[in-house]
Amino acid sequence: MANKVFSAMRPSGRLHLGNYFGALENWVRLQGQYECVFAVADVHTLTTVTGKETEIIKPNTREMVLDWLAAGLDPGKSLLFAQSQVPEVLVLHSLLSMVTPLGWLLRVPTFKERVRQMNETEENVSYGLVGYPVLQTADIILLKADRVPVGIDQVPHIELSREIVRRFNNLYGETFPEPRALLTETPSITGIDGVAKMSKSLDNHLELAATAEETSKRVMTMVTDPQRQRRSDPGRPEVCNVYSMHKLFNPGKIGYVHQECTTAGIGCVDCKKLLAEGINRYLSDFRTRRAEMAANPGFVDDVLADGARRARALARETIDEVYQRIGLGTLHG
Ligand code: TRP
Ligand code: SF4
Repeated sequence: MANKVFSAMRPSGRLHLGNYFGALENWVRLQGQYECVFAVADVHTLTTVTGKETEIIKPNTREMVLDWLAAGLDPGKSLLFAQSQVPEVLVLHSLLSMVTPLGWLLRVPTFKERVRQMNETEENVSYGLVGYPVLQTADIILLKADRVPVGIDQVPHIELSREIVRRFNNLYGETFPEPRALLTETPSITGIDGVAKMSKSLDNHLELAATAEETSKRVMTMVTDPQRQRRSDPGRPEVCNVYSMHKLFNPGKIGYVHQECTTAGIGCVDCKKLLAEGINRYLSDFRTRRAEMAANPGFVDDVLADGARRARALARETIDEVYQRIGLGTLHG
């Protein structure tokens, strides 16, 4: 059987350059190489977002999917849907939870980390949070995908998915292919603070869908070589995040920037202006496409509804097979 790719993102709203280079660009590329499925992990969001806060999930989904589509995810090539609209995944999650030892879940580093971040004890966090990787496993195998493009931080989850699948297959017969992480070299993008990885929660990000003016304004606040205090001081490009970004957005000018920085030929203000221009040029077509799609109110909903319909047809086959293997009979007729 040919390999099938699955990945998902929690609906975080508009994506930033870190999300683009860390994941989305790779997803778009994979579309040409594999059969691909990409989902909005909105049910996963409920592990941390509850009550009134859930009103943000739908608008965030729409903003994120606009970014996906504008970046080149093509509903004609890939299956795109929101997890909550394919409820078969919840059935599979429940059945997988029966063959997953609690100890495996409590040992996952991301779980311990989350509990700590939430300032909680393991006794107080929700059952759903402990089961996060089980739901993730259900996502991956529901349509029998086995290649999972993720960042290095998600690797423990994928390993756990493989363990769960192995256990299910041992107990009930070969049903699912064992998933494997698809690790691709992606440039890691540092935020405008010049220290931490770009992230929305740290507010050090550059949004893909920002206007050119907004982008320029934020780029002008970027932290540069701290030792370059005066315009006449030569700078050190290798410690400056503006310089690292020039490599991505102005590759043709990188020699010039290096030369002019180290000889104090160019000031940081002009250097940043050049970078903002490069980023805005890079994102210009993306932004045009996105604005066109955003102007069409039902567009994202239609894409996701169509994706969910197609996904559910395939998901039902899997659930039927799983029911039969477990001895629960058939679900659909
Ligand atoms: N847990 C992933 C994240 O936080 C999102 C996700 C949900 C996912 N289901 C998945 C990733 C299945 C890969 C495969 O980034
Ligand atoms: Fe960084 Fe450019 Fe200033 Fe050099 S000139 S320190 S590369 S912003």
